[in-house]
Amino acid sequence: MNLNNTTALVLAAGKGTRMASALPKVLHPVAGLPLLYYPLSTLKSLEIDDIRVIVGHGRNLVEKVVQSLGATSHIQEQQLGTADAVRAAKLESAKDFVLIINGDHPLIHSDDLKSLYSEFVESQADIAMLTTVLEEPGNYGRIIRQGDQVRAIVEASHASSETLKINEVNPGIYLVKKNILNEFLNSVDINPEKNEYYLTDLIEYSNEKSYKLVGIQGNPRVNFGINTQAQLAKASKNVFMSKAQKLMEEGVVIVDPNATYIEPTVKVGAGSVLHPNVYIRGNTVIGNFCSVEPGVNIMNSVIADSVEIKAGTYIESAKIGRNVNLGPYARIRPETSIEEEAKIGNFVELKKTHFGKGSKAGHLSYLGDAEIGENVNIGCGTITCNYSADRKKHKTKIGDDVFVGSDTQFVAPIEVGDRAIIGSGSTITKNIPEEALAIARGKQVNKEGLANKYSNK
Ligand code: UD1
Ligand code: CA
Repeated sequence: MNLNNTTALVLAAGKGTRMASALPKVLHPVAGLPLLYYPLSTLKSLEIDDIRVIVGHGRNLVEKVVQSLGATSHIQEQQLGTADAVRAAKLESAKDFVLIINGDHPLIHSDDLKSLYSEFVESQADIAMLTTVLEEPGNYGRIIRQGDQVRAIVEASHASSETLKINEVNPGIYLVKKNILNEFLNSVDINPEKNEYYLTDLIEYSNEKSYKLVGIQGNPRVNFGINTQAQLAKASKNVFMSKAQKLMEEGVVIVDPNATYIEPTVKVGAGSVLHPNVYIRGNTVIGNFCSVEPGVNIMNSVIADSVEIKAGTYIESAKIGRNVNLGPYARIRPETSIEEEAKIGNFVELKKTHFGKGSKAGHLSYLGDAEIGENVNIGCGTITCNYSADRKKHKTKIGDDVFVGSDTQFVAPIEVGDRAIIGSGSTITKNIPEEALAIARGKQVNKEGLANKYSNK
């Protein structure tokens, strides 16, 4: 299949009034990615390299996303209808064939467009369009056929009650020879009722001119357009479900695919187990044989093989080594890397910290801006005091094989040499040399019998 003689147009200038939101419609997230990501990535997967998005409402915001997704934007100043939107694409510089789709239909797959394209080629058509048959055809334009031949598209708002009964509808997906499209754009009249130029008039036009037109029925999902927040949620559900399905086919164990939220960009290795209510986002890569327990949130992180992530853990922009154990309820903040065999227990927070191989921080600790060596034991309640009164962040460096007693505070900047031991309850304000024992706490005094004085007995 060769679509490199094709220019694709994505219509996305409309306002999206029914979203009831200040955000332009095509920027609303579907499974974590902007709505526009979906049509654009489908077109890219067909190796179409000239993709033009027609922008209008909220164009300053939309243009940035269009650019980041490798397409170009073309401005339609006034939203004068779908044919006018096509005109805004400056077809003079387009390739010989033009594929037109809507920007708010996220469930169009590359297979849907491939079948349109093969039909176009096989039947040597001038124009090919997809149609779908819906139980509830709603507000979609109705397909009028005469025998097999598509004669016209009638907008629901202009249709008679008889025409409204037709349930073959127009999803707005057309493949057209550029010169015919240009001819049509030069001749199309404004629709007097709506004051808009209708792209759907192309069908009647091509019949009048006896161009070869084919209408083929496609999968009803291509029709799924987003006009409301409820439809947006439905689209997200669909994308999450197909991602779960795909991962299961690749050998990932998903306990309840209905309650698993994995964005399309995420990778998970075979043999890993995902429990309900996990949310995995962005460019996260998870290795093989990991276990991700309920309520875990992972974003833009790289997780090696055989990592156990217990319930309620939150991981953001971090790197986790092989056989690491995290949580329950651990918080791993950006720029943290945890080396293999390490263990981070409950209510432990790490930020900008390198945590060495085989080291352990089992309970209730904060380690920020820290460098922790190998085989270190961080006792319960340890805190790096990284933020000082001068409003600056300072580093804590702990060598290999150090034993940190419970309830220790490191007042950074501070360095601890290899194999040192710190007595529990210490507030460390001075560097500790290798192999030293450091204790920094008030001495205990026992006053015999004095408890009686204070008790009410
Ligand atoms: C259009 C079709 C209808 C079809 C439906 C499928 C026409 C006249 N009607 O109707 O037959 O069933 O799509 O969803 O084409 N847009 C612009 N500029 C404009 C107007 C629209 O860029 O001036 C964009 C919108 O952002 C949207 C797409 O074109 O992505 C479709 O526009 P919309 O107003 O939603 O058309 P419908 O009335 O739904
Ligand atoms: Ca629409």
